[in-house]
Amino acid sequence: MTDLVARARSLFAPGKGILAADESVHTATARLAEHGVPASEEMRRQYRNLFLGAKGIEQYLSGVILFSETLLQKGGDKKLFPKSLAARGILPGIKVDLGTEPFPSSPQELITQGLLDLPERLEAYKKHGAMFTKWRAAIRIEGDELPTNVALHENAKRLASYAKEVQSAGLVPILEPEVLYEGRHSRAHSRAVIEEVMHTLFSVLDELAVDRASLIIKTSMALSGDKSGKRDTPEEVAADTVAALVASVPPQVAGIAFLSGGQGPEQATANLAALVRHAKETGAPWPLTFSFARALQDEALALWKGDATNVPAARAAFLARLAAVSDALA
Ligand code: G3H
Repeated sequence: MTDLVARARSLFAPGKGILAADESVHTATARLAEHGVPASEEMRRQYRNLFLGAKGIEQYLSGVILFSETLLQKGGDKKLFPKSLAARGILPGIKVDLGTEPFPSSPQELITQGLLDLPERLEAYKKHGAMFTKWRAAIRIEGDELPTNVALHENAKRLASYAKEVQSAGLVPILEPEVLYEGRHSRAHSRAVIEEVMHTLFSVLDELAVDRASLIIKTSMALSGDKSGKRDTPEEVAADTVAALVASVPPQVAGIAFLSGGQGPEQATANLAALVRHAKETGAPWPLTFSFARALQDEALALWKGDATNVPAARAAFLARLAAVSDALA
């Protein structure tokens, strides 16, 4: 096993997963605003420190995906966040895409930016302690029209080029083609799109000879859209998600991590538990874990409200959610 494969596999240590704390300035501002917290660089530092400074997170977290601004900030322990995480045995990772914008060939869809200066940025991120990376593409479902083949293909090409670049820089790539939960679509449609997205992605990855064993797939769960009026049972989500992935993700990948995508914390945790159970029962070939942002953060943010006196209660809620999500992996 190469060092890179071992590093990728270490993110799937038993009972542990990945916290996505990589909200861009724009997204972090929106998240803080939801809880009445005004945004500034210092408030974003306190926001990160709420989670990264919580005692005992290393029991549940193998890695944390950071945003570039956070790489250079310090926590309450006066250490740079990546150093503080590494000292506790948690791998620091970094979001390397530069966000999405409307795709010129199909403007209702999104295309991810960030390949142009990627090699230079990867060198800088490595110097600041990053051990793995993430690139997110966003795939919208809308009736029979979206996603289009051209958008799927272009997002897959960029994900594959990113993965190639990252592996040659000696870092682990997490490829996140997120099939969006927002919409009126059925769970069957979500399942079919996840499968198609992964097929397209792996055909392009093979064209570029990207090493499968040191890459991680981050995916949505197969869910009825949030405006479909249907709430799926965890067993339904598990069966359709595992079926889509078994049909499209090769067994050699280092593992598959699930995003929460706008599901509530309880819903995401219950679905993850059912998924892990179903994957075990059916002999699915890859290690599984979580890589949630909102489902891990929301309860704590609602308690914190930007007030230092609320930090202990907010951290307790975060640790309780981490424990529940970790239990879901058992
Ligand atoms: O890019 C999205 C994050 O990596 C996962 O966030 O769990 O809130 O969907 P989420």
